[in-house]
Amino acid sequence: MKSIIPWVGGKGKLLWLLHRLSPPRYSRFVDVFGGSGTVILNRPLRLGCEEIYNDFNSNLTNLFCCVKERPMALLRELGFLPLHSRDDFKVLHRFFDRDEITDDYLSEELALTEVLLPPPEAAAIRRLMLERAPRGDVHRAADYFKLIRCSYSGTGTSFAGKPCNIRRFFHLVWECSRSLQDVAVENKDFEGLIRQYDREDTFFYCDPPYYEAECYAVAFPRRDHQRLHDLLAGCRGYVMVSYNFCPYICELYKEFYIFRVARPNSMSQAAGSEYEEVVMTNYAPCTETTPDRQLTMFETGGQDGDGRRYQLIHAPTVPLKRL
Ligand SMILES: C[S@@+](CC[C@H](N)C(=O)[O-])C[C@H]1O[C@@H](n2cnc3c(N)ncnc32)[C@H](O)[C@@H]1O
Repeated sequence: MKSIIPWVGGKGKLLWLLHRLSPPRYSRFVDVFGGSGTVILNRPLRLGCEEIYNDFNSNLTNLFCCVKERPMALLRELGFLPLHSRDDFKVLHRFFDRDEITDDYLSEELALTEVLLPPPEAAAIRRLMLERAPRGDVHRAADYFKLIRCSYSGTGTSFAGKPCNIRRFFHLVWECSRSLQDVAVENKDFEGLIRQYDREDTFFYCDPPYYEAECYAVAFPRRDHQRLHDLLAGCRGYVMVSYNFCPYICELYKEFYIFRVARPNSMSQAAGSEYEEVVMTNYAPCTETTPDRQLTMFETGGQDGDGRRYQLIHAPTVPLKRL
């Protein structure tokens, strides 16, 4: 599933490996550095699993709160409404038809359906609206959405240089809204968040800003990489961390299993250019408890059916966490 926004460092191309190396059982999933939400939106569905999306960038978490809680108001702010086509209406109708909605902004949302939709459609949508939780600044969310969507590679810092038809993303807002219905959205620094949610059956996925490679609105100096490592090394739950491949990070995480993987470099103009990353775990992925995953080349790494390569480049003597 695609996110509503592109994001520098988005993990769409690495999902296959993240899923493959995930622990077989957990009852709480925390996407600590959520960014575009690509990882949480594509999580394997597990009945009863508590799910948390977090990012320290408050513009981003505000956008996700609005997508989740106030999609109608956000669409109005983005200029999607009134609806122009039957297809747009169908998407909207499907969304509400299957949803349980809770919101203190219900009256505003209901009023919007009256103003923005032709009467028969408005009546249909109104019937399906229930309640909705009060969170999010839709004006700020819409501005931020446009800024990211119209910028080069989702950086938010330079103009993409070509027109961007916001209407193309109409369906993504609804799909993401539905997918996030049971996901808690948090806006915390990683340390407080991890301490709050750590327990034996929590699975933390951490995709911090890469070491000396990426800049976000929220700074992440070298001491934060150390702070993150020290915290994760003492976690009770399962931990998976992804980074750019570099000696400093491999040395820092030497108590972890380290897998090296290459993926196409979307930021490079050169044909066939690849970017090397590592995925690290505090547990030994793929043991006899996960025979269905067929990670037979686990000891040395290998290649899957689609030709994607990964390699175990380091294993600790004793795993920090047992499966
Ligand atoms: C590599 S990106 C995550 C990309 C994400 N996995 C995806 O697929 O889109 C790193 C994210 O960490 C966030 N971040 C930076 N410092 C943070 C902190 N101290 N605590 C939590 N999140 C932080 C940034 O805002 C950025 O969105």
